[in-house]
Amino acid sequence: MDYRRLGKSGLRVSALSFGSWVTFAKQVDLGPAKELLGAAYDAGVNFFDNAEGYEQGQSEVVMGQALSELAWSRDSFIVSSKVFWGGDKPTQRGLSRKHVTDACHAALRRLQVDYLDLYFCHRPDVDTPIEETVRAMDTLIAQGKVLYWGTSEWSAQQITEAHAVAREWRLTPPTMEQPQYNLFERDKVEGDYAPLYDTYGLGTTIWSPLASGLLTGKYNDGIPEGSRMALPGYEWLKDTLASEKGKDHLAKARALTQVAEGAGLSLTHMALLWCLANPRVSTVILGASRVSQLKDNLAALDHADRLTPEVMAAIEAIVKNRPEPPQRY
Ligand SMILES: NC(=O)c1ccc[n+]([C@@H]2O[C@H](COP(=O)([O-])OP(=O)(O)OC[C@H]3O[C@@H](n4cnc5c(N)ncnc54)[C@H](OP(=O)(O)O)[C@@H]3O)[C@@H](O)[C@H]2O)c1
Repeated sequence: MDYRRLGKSGLRVSALSFGSWVTFAKQVDLGPAKELLGAAYDAGVNFFDNAEGYEQGQSEVVMGQALSELAWSRDSFIVSSKVFWGGDKPTQRGLSRKHVTDACHAALRRLQVDYLDLYFCHRPDVDTPIEETVRAMDTLIAQGKVLYWGTSEWSAQQITEAHAVAREWRLTPPTMEQPQYNLFERDKVEGDYAPLYDTYGLGTTIWSPLASGLLTGKYNDGIPEGSRMALPGYEWLKDTLASEKGKDHLAKARALTQVAEGAGLSLTHMALLWCLANPRVSTVILGASRVSQLKDNLAALDHADRLTPEVMAAIEAIVKNRPEPPQRY
């Protein structure tokens, strides 16, 4: 396993990490969850990602119980939660000081830990002043309940405002952002955030590196039974596949499969290695509903030398979605 700094922080996070969205408490219960976490940890994965919004908190309950039973030394792993979607009542969602505080306490209980290593604002909240959220995060950090705080899918402007507020009031600024990043989704990581890496030392924990499985090639010939797009409750995801954009992605996934085969790689490995090739990526968060998938994905690291400049160019010729670099005058 390789380890990368989380932005400019001193925290070393495994290049491949593991998250439980869709899977824990939906596709797998405690037994398989322990096996998945164990397979990841044994391979050197040290970061496990979660959120209050995953299966209404039950994903954290499963992960917390698994971590408790696995009984790894607390200083050997990093665990996260995210705040935003805690419930239906007005005080149970968003980024108010109240909900940020309540959600942290609830996540600590569900995950059965004394502190969260990483705590993310799962989305921006336009109804809460950013200063209120920065102050709430700073308080939790001062109380030792959170070590590093960050954002997810915030705009560069919103992240910049959080830093400005933190600097003005000597509060702790965000360390990391959790954006979607994969062969189909590059705008934020390669475009919007480009000025933030050097200015603020922003770290990134990127999500859906396989575009929910599309970049494994498993949807090339239809929707397999038991796959994410066939799950009840995820019809919205299945619908995206039928959209014009989805059809375009599917056609590209088929073409990318050919490139991967030519390079002696699986599409899965090529897609993961492509994410890792970006040095602005601190960690690629894997998702897996089975241990075999997780082991397959972790094995991508053994083939990094096959992602040559020629293969990168062949990929670019298919996806054709590199964001414009920031203008220099
Ligand atoms: N911050 C955010 O807003 C946000 C949003 C989404 C995700 N995340 C985080 O990012 C993590 C990863 O996202 P993701 O789960 O969408 O990642 P992903 O890698 O794009 O998709 C993972 C899914 O693809 C399928 N898959 C993975 N490897 C496979 C393989 N080798 N062969 C066949 N199928 C395979 C599995 O689904 P099936 O077996 O069910 O088909 C697996 O659950 C999440 O767990 C979560 O922690 C964050």
